[in-house]
Amino acid sequence: MTADNLLNKVDKTKMPRHVAIIMDGNGRWASLQGLLRSAGHTAGVKTLKKILTTAVNLKLEALTVYAFSTENWKRPLTEVEFLMHLFSEYLENEKMEMHQNNVRLKFFGRTEDFSPLIQSQIKSATELMKNNTGVKFNIAADYGGQDEIVRAAQKLARKVAAGEISAEQISASVFEDELDTVGQPPVDLLIRTGGDLRISNFLLWQAAYAELYFTKTNFPEFTPEEFVDALINFGKRDRRFGGVNLV
Ligand code: FPP
Repeated sequence: MTADNLLNKVDKTKMPRHVAIIMDGNGRWASLQGLLRSAGHTAGVKTLKKILTTAVNLKLEALTVYAFSTENWKRPLTEVEFLMHLFSEYLENEKMEMHQNNVRLKFFGRTEDFSPLIQSQIKSATELMKNNTGVKFNIAADYGGQDEIVRAAQKLARKVAAGEISAEQISASVFEDELDTVGQPPVDLLIRTGGDLRISNFLLWQAAYAELYFTKTNFPEFTPEEFVDALINFGKRDRRFGGVNLV
């Protein structure tokens, strides 16, 4: 299917504003091909590039991908080092094209444990794109939903201790302002590839009312076509946000 035909399949009035993806199954995909797990991550980067292009063409408002969790440090050192190398290469190779596509790149997570090189690449890429007005593309790296919520609580506790606000003034919206995702729309659609049926500590606050889309497809084989299918499927969901839809 041509790119235009694919994009025409989507009813633009029923698009999610914010799509989040748990890019799982890279390792399993590689094992099935008789390759090293690292080859799965390399293939995952190629898939990510195609998904971002599709998001740009669809004028999606926000796309967030789970690239490295706070728990992923427990993986073998060689795999962690390989992933770090991929992040670095990705930022180096992709940042100009992202910028030309008006993408606004952000990182969610701690990131201070990354190497000075990666930290400076993150800083320079996000600075470069900070005034862009296209797709908000967020990479969650050294990210955990619980960790993000704890960091937000700590920031608010400091503000209360300093007398800047009172405990009673803390509302859901005040809390959201301290999250990494400040300024982003809530997650409408959460996609997980790789067949597992769990959230894995991803965007716990932001996905409170997200529609969930689980697919057995391993991330390297997740195509723009399936991405568009997930968006079309989202358009058919009956979202009630705890209320009732009166017809
Ligand atoms: C999960 O698959 C995937 C990851 C932990 C890393 C995701 C990273 C990429 C797609 C590439 C790098 C991303 C960027 C932004 C450059 P898994 O390894 O857990 O697969 P498995 O469940 O089959 O073992």
